[in-house]
Amino acid sequence: MVSKIRVGALISGGGTNLQAIIDAARGGAIAADIVFVGSDNPDAYGLKRARDSGIPTFVVDYREVIRSFRQQAAAAQLPGDFRLDEVRAKQALRSRDADPEKVDAFLAGRAVAEALLLEAMAAHPFDLLVLAGFMRNLTPYFIDRVNTDRTQPRIMNIHPALLPAFAGTDGYGDTFRYGCKVGGCTVHFVDYGEDSGPIIGQRAFPIREDDTLEDVRRRGLEQEWQLYPECIQLFAEGRLKTVRMTHELPGGKVCERTVVNILPKG
Ligand code: GRF
Repeated sequence: MVSKIRVGALISGGGTNLQAIIDAARGGAIAADIVFVGSDNPDAYGLKRARDSGIPTFVVDYREVIRSFRQQAAAAQLPGDFRLDEVRAKQALRSRDADPEKVDAFLAGRAVAEALLLEAMAAHPFDLLVLAGFMRNLTPYFIDRVNTDRTQPRIMNIHPALLPAFAGTDGYGDTFRYGCKVGGCTVHFVDYGEDSGPIIGQRAFPIREDDTLEDVRRRGLEQEWQLYPECIQLFAEGRLKTVRMTHELPGGKVCERTVVNILPKG
C-alpha cells in the first residue's frame, strides 16, 4: 500500500483542476491529502472550493505586494536571504537581452511576494506542491527553497498545451489560432524557465474543422482533470525519477536535458 503524501496547491482562478485533485484524494484514487490551498488572488473561486472541503487557505495578494514594492522602490524591504546576483544568474524567465534594471526589479518584487508565500506555507508541511492554474511565474528564490534536494524536484505545474509548444498564459488559444490539428495538456516539474521543466505526463486530443476555441478549452480541461491526479499518484508511488540525458547530434553538437523517467510499478 502506498502511504499518503501531503500536497499543497497554489491557484489563481476557478480551480477546476484543484477540484479534480480534491475529488481524487477524497475518493481514494490518489494517495494524497491536500494540506493547504494558497492564492495570489483574493477573489479566486478555487479558494471557496478549498474552504468548502475544509482545506486551510491563505492569500498573498500579489497585486498589492507588487504595487507597494514599486512605490517604495529603493527603500523596499527585501527578504533577508534574498541574493539578487544568484537569482539573476539562475533565472530563465526574462530574456538575457531585457533591460537589466527591469529584470532586477521584477526578481526583487517577486521575491518579496514569494517570501510571504513561503511564510504562509511553512505552517503546513508538504511533500509536493502543485500549481493548479497559478498564473504567476516563480523565481529561483522560491523554487530553491521548496526544492531543497536538487535531485528530487517537488513542484508540479499543469500547462494547457503540448509542451514545448505554446508556453505562456494562453496555451489553448495559441494552439487553436495556430491551426493545430491536435491539442493537449502537459504536467511537468517546474524549473527556472517558463513552462520549460521536465515533462511528467501529456494528453492529446483532436481538433476538428468546426471546433471553436471554447470547444478546445473544454476538451482540454477534461483531459487535465484526469492527467493531473494521475501524475500526482505517480509521485506518491515514488515512480518519478529525473535523469540527465546527453545526446550527440549529427555534426557533433551535444544536447543535454533533464527528463523524467517513469519507473515501473511496485
Ligand atoms: C488550466 O487550463 C491550466 O492548464 C492552466 O490554467 C487553467 C486553470 O484552470 N495552467 P482551473 O483554475 O484549474 O479551472
